[in-house]
Amino acid sequence: MKTKILVTGGTGYIGSHTVVELQNAGYEVVIIDNLSNSNIGVLDGINKITGIRPVFVEGDCTDINTLRKLFDENPGIKGIINFAASKAVGESVQKPLLYYKNNLNTLINLLELMPEYGVKGIVFSSSCTVYGEPDHNPINEGAPIKPATSPYGNTKQISEEIIEDYIRSGAPIKSILLRYFNPIGAHPSAEIGELPLGVPQNLVPYLTQTAAGIRKELTVFGDDYNTPDGSCIRDYIDVVDLAKAHVIAMKRMLDNNDTDSVEIFNLGTGRGLSVLELIASFERATGVKVPHKIGNRREGDIEKIWADPKKANEVLGWKAEVPVDETMKNAWTWQQKISK
Ligand code: UD1
Repeated sequence: MKTKILVTGGTGYIGSHTVVELQNAGYEVVIIDNLSNSNIGVLDGINKITGIRPVFVEGDCTDINTLRKLFDENPGIKGIINFAASKAVGESVQKPLLYYKNNLNTLINLLELMPEYGVKGIVFSSSCTVYGEPDHNPINEGAPIKPATSPYGNTKQISEEIIEDYIRSGAPIKSILLRYFNPIGAHPSAEIGELPLGVPQNLVPYLTQTAAGIRKELTVFGDDYNTPDGSCIRDYIDVVDLAKAHVIAMKRMLDNNDTDSVEIFNLGTGRGLSVLELIASFERATGVKVPHKIGNRREGDIEKIWADPKKANEVLGWKAEVPVDETMKNAWTWQQKISK
């Protein structure tokens, strides 16, 4: 019998790619999503890639009764991957309570119900934002957690603490906290990808929309940072590589009795790329020019951060594999599909 996994936020960007990899690895998936930032059509894309349409529940994880009903109607769920969260940094500054409510209530409800329904483990989507501006790069999991610079970032820090406190109190569950660096790209089939609502805040969707002529020009936020070309440096990780790490993490939690109850892994490539280098990669990979100009720094931006992914490489046996040019090509194929 297939092991059943609940994926909250499973029609979202990283969620949908993870559902594909879970199904490819032989897991049975139940998705819950309130469709606040995703589209039901994503299920068709998942079906086209894997030949399997996952069970879908439209609902909000902040409502514990909705979750109870889901667990009653889908018995035997063994693991949860929790993607259901609000994620726009700027919006979180404007609407902090929305972020605390969505992100924390969802997590607390899931944790509360796990022992009751015999769910053994939860994979949590955390972020490299918990490190703030690092003292040195690459950064490993032992680096200090810096004060959050946005309510969004704070929800990630608090969520990690809630999980740790709950397990320390003796709750009979395990958890793996995955600290993502900058997920980008789309499935190579172009059946699923990122579907930003309104004007994208993140670099790659803005870049691909500019290349597609939807936006006039990309603004590079600052070229006076202390980096080789002056623009900020990030660790851009292909979304399919990222999705695969979730499958490995789930398997580790559910199948090994001797691993720690809480484990933390950085998910990045280990290589930092500047904004200008990423634009160059896109142009090289696609042959399409991206009109761009240098603008002011964006408030709250970190100058440079990239991962030391050694722990994930060695302990999980996971490694980011997709070359960035290929990732950019996939992002472009996807953009062309959705802008038709
Ligand atoms: C941010 C969050 C991160 C979150 C992620 C996903 C912080 C510090 N980082 O990452 O926690 O998980 O979003 O939502 O809170 N850029 C431009 N022009 C643009 C857009 C971006 O030059 O139009 C630059 C930015 O200055 C930055 C890089 O591109 O250097 C990446 O930006 P972005 O994609 O927004 O991600 P982060 O800010 O790194």
